[in-house]
Amino acid sequence: MCGIVGVVGSPNAASILLEGLKRLEYRGYDSAGMVIMTPDGQQLVKEKGKIVNLEAALNWDELKGTCGIAHTRWATHGAPNQINAHPHVSGKVALVHNGIIENQKALKIQLTNKGHEFVSQTDTEVLAHLIEDFYDGDLVKAVQLALGVVDGAFGIAVTHLDEPDLIIGARRGSPLVVGVGEGVNYLASDVAAMMGHTRQVIYLDDGEMVTLRPEGIHTTTIDNEEITKEIQEITWDLDQIQKGGYEHFMLKEIFEQPQTIRDSFRGRILPGTGDVKLGGIELTDWELRNIRRIIILACGTSWHAGLVGEYLLEEYAHIPVEVEYASEFRYRSPIIEPGTLCLVISQSGETIDTLEAMREAKRKGAKVLGITNTVGSTIARESECGVYIHAGPEIGVASTKAFTSQVTILALMAILFGRRTHLSADRGTQMLQELVKLPDLVQKVLDQSDAIKQIAEVYAGHKNCLYLGRGVNFPIALEGALKLKEISYIHAEGYPAAEMKHGPIALIDPDMPVVVIATKDGSYDKIVGNVQEVRARDGKIISIVTEGDTEIAALSDHVITIPETMNFWTPLLSVIPLQLFAYHIAVIRGEDVDQPRNLAKAVTVE
Ligand code: AGP
Ligand code: GLU
Repeated sequence: MCGIVGVVGSPNAASILLEGLKRLEYRGYDSAGMVIMTPDGQQLVKEKGKIVNLEAALNWDELKGTCGIAHTRWATHGAPNQINAHPHVSGKVALVHNGIIENQKALKIQLTNKGHEFVSQTDTEVLAHLIEDFYDGDLVKAVQLALGVVDGAFGIAVTHLDEPDLIIGARRGSPLVVGVGEGVNYLASDVAAMMGHTRQVIYLDDGEMVTLRPEGIHTTTIDNEEITKEIQEITWDLDQIQKGGYEHFMLKEIFEQPQTIRDSFRGRILPGTGDVKLGGIELTDWELRNIRRIIILACGTSWHAGLVGEYLLEEYAHIPVEVEYASEFRYRSPIIEPGTLCLVISQSGETIDTLEAMREAKRKGAKVLGITNTVGSTIARESECGVYIHAGPEIGVASTKAFTSQVTILALMAILFGRRTHLSADRGTQMLQELVKLPDLVQKVLDQSDAIKQIAEVYAGHKNCLYLGRGVNFPIALEGALKLKEISYIHAEGYPAAEMKHGPIALIDPDMPVVVIATKDGSYDKIVGNVQEVRARDGKIISIVTEGDTEIAALSDHVITIPETMNFWTPLLSVIPLQLFAYHIAVIRGEDVDQPRNLAKAVTVE
């Protein structure tokens, strides 16, 4: 689930591993460790908590070696403490692992009966012992035999002291990427870990393994069949994964949104036709016209983007849309009829629930289209066709710029599908003209960050918060609430505004801040009524209104304005103050904004 880094062939192995771990810090983790093959044996260091703790514990004189592996752990089995941190060692075998070994209990009993002694509560340690048990002088063979008997998901890196110039990597369900250098080779769960060392990478697919030595790389399947993999070039830069003067990655990413939204539509608008071109959608016009139903599969923030997409696609493409939690979809008996298109949305492209739902949809015959941010990710590679959102690396665990880019792509898709059926060229042109203005309008909202911070100061001490929105801004209420709970740990709920009177209204009292998205649209009068209902019960109202609004502003305790745009494009503006509100509250409360507790950037366990 979390981070893996490995390096072979460098005299600075330990510092490369430490640097790689720091690059993966954004993913969220609870402990970290590394092992280096040295002339004096394998040197193992691990610590609970942040990487600075690990760094403080490193004795550089003892870590002189050219080969090592390292890990940031996101605990699934066993508490996040030093003993459970990876690498796990059995004899001369050391191993780091992302994922879950599902049959670990049975394997542990068998291995214990054979005399193996376990020190941790992790599932991972079983795999280290299993590999040692199978080892008879050939690490590749031992890893293959061990992986043949484990159930579950893994991305692993393995070393053996008797073969100190060798790392073995293998994956099933958790990402692994190989970095190709000259005399030095790298292995990681995420390309960010090897940035600055190489741009040549090989993405492993499920069921594949790799042996890395200083002199070269060899790829096979876990069943030992030879495979040839393509080397790909990383196109983004190191400064894209650094903070660039901002206090937190999250703030940097919030402020990048004028640019990232622009990057998402750049080159995709066909001037003069009211139409768009999305290169990755390899569907003919005939196929596009014959889409009868769209199912959107996603989790978390990406699921909220999907909900906005539902409104846009139904409005402009006239295609029925369902938005499913990926985790639920894959365990139901989903009905996939001819003409069903599945849109799979994932920032990371590695979320296991989403990936498995996508595989299930493919198995059932749906056409599958991936919308991801991460080039070379598993979802990008396994979907039949797809669109990159081009938001650039998103480091903050709480997703912000990826969300607005996902919504931008869904807006383009609504126009693309609509133009093949109902939507006129004039209407398409008008919609696109409004869309290209959005980056400047987003900037206007960002300019209110200080004012939003002042509101945050008033509410940072509260324990609960309600978010209300209607229509296409209902998903924004959900997203606003998710942002707040993720990084500030304040309990927050999002509701369609009209639902409030069916239950949540019971919660309203002077201690309950209610954030209302009340932009000018067809249901404006209704939302005025909902705000009145909150006010009548002494709730505190923070409203997001269209510039020039006076009616809701007069009823509110605090007002944040967004510039006027087409109603269906308002989510791209209304979400910005909610991201900033959550951010400022978390900072005021002293929380770890970029790496909130218990969360990970890419959730590769079910
Ligand atoms: C977003 O702030 C969350 N951390 C989380 O809900 C996330 O959106 C979800 O895990 C899905 O991730 P994905 O887009 O990478 O698939
Ligand atoms: N399941 C393993 C553990 O709990 C791996 C966790 C991870 O993916 O970081 O140690």
